[in-house]
Amino acid sequence: MLSLNNKKIILAVSGGIAAYKSALLLRLLIKQGARVQVVMTESAKEFVAPLTFQALSGEIVRSDLFDSAAEAGMGHIELAQWADLMIIAPATANTLAKITHGLADNLLTALCLTSKAPLLIAPAMNQQMWNNTTTQENVTKLSKKQSIFLCGPALGEQACGDSGYGRMEEPQKILQQGIKILENQTISSGLLKDRHILITAGPTIEDIDPVRYVTNRSSGKMGYAIAQAAINEGARVSLVSGPVCIEQPQKVEFYSIRSARQMHETVLKIVASADVFIATAAVADYRPASKRIQKLKKNSENLTIELIKNPDILADVAALANKPVTIGFAAETNDIEAYAIDKLKRKNLDMIAANQVGDAKGFEKDDNELYLFWHKDNEIQSKKLPLADKQILAKQLIEEIALSFTQDINIL
Ligand code: CTP
Repeated sequence: MLSLNNKKIILAVSGGIAAYKSALLLRLLIKQGARVQVVMTESAKEFVAPLTFQALSGEIVRSDLFDSAAEAGMGHIELAQWADLMIIAPATANTLAKITHGLADNLLTALCLTSKAPLLIAPAMNQQMWNNTTTQENVTKLSKKQSIFLCGPALGEQACGDSGYGRMEEPQKILQQGIKILENQTISSGLLKDRHILITAGPTIEDIDPVRYVTNRSSGKMGYAIAQAAINEGARVSLVSGPVCIEQPQKVEFYSIRSARQMHETVLKIVASADVFIATAAVADYRPASKRIQKLKKNSENLTIELIKNPDILADVAALANKPVTIGFAAETNDIEAYAIDKLKRKNLDMIAANQVGDAKGFEKDDNELYLFWHKDNEIQSKKLPLADKQILAKQLIEEIALSFTQDINIL
């Protein structure tokens, strides 16, 4: 199936040399089944003739805010309401500034104010303009909005001869992000609107010397999928993560840490405002008693490194007087149920999500299965979430958690 079948998209083009790449983006959108209406600013027309976009989209290109011919057919307000998604590519520094401050002096900027559709912005400009503090302030403001998403700019050589961040992201990448935004929109029911979810993810790294460390295996995929699922349900999400090789979900408040102690400190700083704490991180239980400044030399047959215990982040959160709903994870090779229930009680958790690891299960895989255990009426309740892609499991887990808010009774 085409991934954008019958989706209605406004492709808004502002005036930059990258405007020629938007013609390719338009073709890609149409190939995926989208219906596209192109809007151009006056300066965009200096770079590419509207006829190019008209020929590719099969629709008249719109530019004027007050265009009697167009208003007779589809007025600009109707156009704004018609769209499932609006993409601005390229977005110049000028257009970014106007959107940030709510100006509506042309059709493109007016649509940004009138449309409720998510807005995907692909900035493109000279690298100095991109790095300018005013542009950066504007970008920071825009990226905080729930329905605005940024794609790029990319790093590389620019038409003006400069090199740096400022190139418009490749059309294929903009297309992929547009598809993702629309997919997430269709699955959201706003179950966690106005809730703050705090999540730990990935491994922690405990340095032995400048080149060696102790760590746990963890790709971070489960934690990141849970963060995305919570965002899709309208939550404010803080993600405290150790080093991983996956892209952070847009809209998370992201905290990058390295060691268990940094993760502990960061979590305890944020936790007061959290409604739910989900600990998916594979925290190293121990760290070297001391970190050597210089590289350790192999001048003896045996080597003993003293390890000392790290703080238990999950247990410390669960022990807070005003604790959030606290959910732990347990990765077990055997006796899942017994170990998970023991952890649930020992750490005073509201819920534990356990999974089996080993035998090519769990780590670095895209799918998983989860066993949930929680207390209810002095009994342990359980539920199995069967083997599925981690994104599906994350959505199911978030729905289980959301139930505790949307229903009056606290199932956790
Ligand atoms: N956890 C944590 N801080 C730690 C250790 C673990 O927050 N210092 C959290 C993990 O994120 C996970 C849960 O606690 O949610 C795992 O519990 P833990 O007892 O550490 O698991 P194991 O190390 O597997 O324990 P055991 O040695 O008992 O098997």
